[in-house]
Amino acid sequence: MLDTIAKKELESLQISWSQDLAIGNELIDSDHRDIFDTARRLQAEITEEEPEYSIVGEVLVELIEHTGGHFAREEALMQEIGFPALEAHKREHALLMQKVNDLHRRFMDGYPNLPMEVAKFIEFGLVRHIMKSDMELGRFMHAA
Ligand SMILES: [Fe+2]
Ligand SMILES: [Fe+2]
Repeated sequence: MLDTIAKKELESLQISWSQDLAIGNELIDSDHRDIFDTARRLQAEITEEEPEYSIVGEVLVELIEHTGGHFAREEALMQEIGFPALEAHKREHALLMQKVNDLHRRFMDGYPNLPMEVAKFIEFGLVRHIMKSDMELGRFMHAA
């Protein structure tokens, strides 16, 4: 049974990509929009009256795939342009991947607190990473 308070918390989360999240690189910004779209679908399914667990599972897998693919592209770009904070940035990516994989594993184990964990992952994981670390990359690219 999903926790009702946590569901409301997840439901109230505004998951939308906006111009203030733009780092100014087309590839990266479109990847970020794509990740937000997937996260929004996950939010929508989990906060349904009766979530369809097979769909939640599928969307979680998609989120893992989109996030992983994006991180690889972003890291390749950072390597190419000689971004100085590459190693620290890669560690952040690795941690986020670990978190999203953990979410999926716990979901498969029947983890009951999924809405809260998903809300936290999106808000304090993905969004914060883009606003802080990806923004830094954007500034470096524009200064070059
Ligand atoms: Fe990043
Ligand atoms: Fe990114």
